[in-house]
Amino acid sequence: MLTEERNQLLTRVGAGTPMGDLMRRYWHPIAAVSELDANPVKPIRIMGEDLVLYRDRAGALGLLERKCAHRRADLSYGYVEDCGLRCNYHGWRYDERGRCIEQPFEERVDPEAMVWAYSRVPREREPYEQQRIPGWQGPIKDPHTGRWLSSHIMNQDFIAWVGQGTIADRTREHLGASDRGIAMIRRRLLADLEAIARGEQPKALVRDRETNLCIRLPIADRKLFEEGLPREQFIKFHRDRFRMFGAYTYQVGQPDAVKREFEDAIGVTIEECIADGDRR
Ligand code: FES
Repeated sequence: MLTEERNQLLTRVGAGTPMGDLMRRYWHPIAAVSELDANPVKPIRIMGEDLVLYRDRAGALGLLERKCAHRRADLSYGYVEDCGLRCNYHGWRYDERGRCIEQPFEERVDPEAMVWAYSRVPREREPYEQQRIPGWQGPIKDPHTGRWLSSHIMNQDFIAWVGQGTIADRTREHLGASDRGIAMIRRRLLADLEAIARGEQPKALVRDRETNLCIRLPIADRKLFEEGLPREQFIKFHRDRFRMFGAYTYQVGQPDAVKREFEDAIGVTIEECIADGDRR
């Protein structure tokens, strides 16, 4: 019989434990190569560590920490490329040695603005008054595989949020220039907490009724949103998006009834928009 202490010593194999250190000196089978045929990315849990195994398009095998080094998204929803695995959140790409070899937004974007936008109906449908805002809940998991659906924009965000864990481990993030907005909002929230603790008000509370009726915020393409587009230009503007995603780009499972309400509002069907593109 072993003592409790020696039993712990024998069975604890997580990173940094004596037995874990011993075990990590040997090879361990973690998956059959054929398991990567259907899906080249496979989450693995071994010796207390969550990892992701992948085979890229060149055939290289990689084994990485499952959480992306950027903002901790789940790399098991990443995409393999000719070289490496790309995170599905902001596209950081890792090679088989675990090196981050691409950070697309850091390389291309100088984040200066956040944009809020809405779809305006074609000018011929103005003035348009929306009587009600339809609500619906879309599926978030594939019922056959149990995996998160990843085809639409918000679904991809859901995957990233869930993959970060109930409370994301922000002590292990690596924020870059494109995360300036994230850093700013965190600083803002923490400063607001301190303000409240001092008995002051947090920022951006507007208590004056008149001021609060319409707050003019900076917006890209203000003219487009204020003036709208004539029907023909509206169709041209939207048809590639409709062609790729159908009526609703953002989340899987928009009900037909909601799609029809949208079409009634804009005065043209999605199919007509797409067919218009085919004629050109
Ligand atoms: S690129 Fe992975 S979380 Fe941002």
